[in-house]
Amino acid sequence: MAPLRRGSLRCKQSTRYATYSTNITGVGKISLTLVSRLRNVQSYSRTRGGTQLNTYDEVYYPSHSFPQTHPDRLATAATLFGMNPARVDGCRYLELGCGDAGNLIPMAFYLPGSEFVGIDLAARPIEMGRELAEELGLKNLQLHQMSIDDVDDQFGEFDFVVAHGVYSWVPPQVRDSLLNVCSKHLSPHGVGYISYNTFPGGHLRRMIWDMMRFHVRDIEEPQRRISQAQALLSFVSSSKEKDDLYIQVLRKELERTARFDKSHLYHDDLADINDPVYFHQFVDHAAQYGLRFLAEADYFEMKPHSFTPEATAILDQLGDDIVRREQYSDFIKCRRFRQTLLCREEVIPEQYNHWERVKYLYASSNLSPVATDPDLNSPKPAAFVSENNSQISTDHPILKNAFAYLGTKWPQVVSFEELLDASL
Ligand SMILES: C[S@@+](CC[C@H](N)C(=O)[O-])C[C@H]1O[C@@H](n2cnc3c(N)ncnc32)[C@H](O)[C@@H]1O
Repeated sequence: MAPLRRGSLRCKQSTRYATYSTNITGVGKISLTLVSRLRNVQSYSRTRGGTQLNTYDEVYYPSHSFPQTHPDRLATAATLFGMNPARVDGCRYLELGCGDAGNLIPMAFYLPGSEFVGIDLAARPIEMGRELAEELGLKNLQLHQMSIDDVDDQFGEFDFVVAHGVYSWVPPQVRDSLLNVCSKHLSPHGVGYISYNTFPGGHLRRMIWDMMRFHVRDIEEPQRRISQAQALLSFVSSSKEKDDLYIQVLRKELERTARFDKSHLYHDDLADINDPVYFHQFVDHAAQYGLRFLAEADYFEMKPHSFTPEATAILDQLGDDIVRREQYSDFIKCRRFRQTLLCREEVIPEQYNHWERVKYLYASSNLSPVATDPDLNSPKPAAFVSENNSQISTDHPILKNAFAYLGTKWPQVVSFEELLDASL
């Protein structure tokens, strides 16, 4: 077994963790003659001094906040689909494979009445998360270095169980354990969140992962693996006289990897285990553990926004069969990634009339009118822009007033009742 290699990548945000690395640089020149030591750091996990370590101990993977996993989002989806989820400000929340708790820490900070628990196999990220939580004086966050396989009854019941970026990257027995934890530890109206790579889009991405993994198969040093993987994509996508569909796909992927944090390329794309599944396979797997498809964490993804009216009408023939409907939608979209919400099989989600339950919710928005003096009460269209520059326009006076009102309240939330009063 090779000695543990520390000091190869630098933790982005802190000099305190200087033992954890140096910078990764950009795309290198391709080398086809490169054959270095036979690589053996990429095994899924191993032990040192009695502690189980995995590749995330060797190459830091900065995690951050994922709004789609916030109890707010999960409880909103559950409410729209007819469930009675726990109060966001008084819930129990478990994150599996939480890394350095970059997602958990902000939630624990802003929701002091809720209890957060995170587990991860990698020791160093958990240590980093604990140090930051202690510095912030968080009393409502516990972090454990352990495997998903070992979560036992002592953990108790949770209103939300989340695993982001884990399912596709772990061996089959850990995927089973992940669903088993959801099954055993979700409260009756609890919501599970599991994200995973999916087909058919996964086929396109796998084609690229396979080429990159072939090229770097004998390279041990992480920085070199990353720069050579990018160099290969660059080489292949620029080596034909004329562009074709294949080259366009490669170029898109090259652009995507250039935008990535390099350690994400290392862990996500070059990982030895990276297995997409079809949506229906995931749903069948969850059903083996008494879990049912509830919704996607991004509600808009369940709507046929970009489909032709003919396609929408054909999908409508599937009626209540939400799983088949979602699967055919994935075929149309060439979907690559899903963020699926699950509930216990005893819960039957309400597929219709979600608008009726909107009145139980609160709203917030950072939209502001594009015009300096917008006419909110006429049926003339008005445009609103968000902080990240997305735009929406409407000619509906009530909606125009609602957007303008929310903008003045941001970042506060307002009840549906208050919003309606202010908009009429
Ligand atoms: C791709 S990272 C995702 C980290 C974080 N959820 C995020 O999205 O930023 C996968 C994480 O799962 C952890 N992991 C892998 N196998 C595990 C296991 N058997 N038990 C617990 N954590 C595991 C890894 O250590 C790593 O931190």
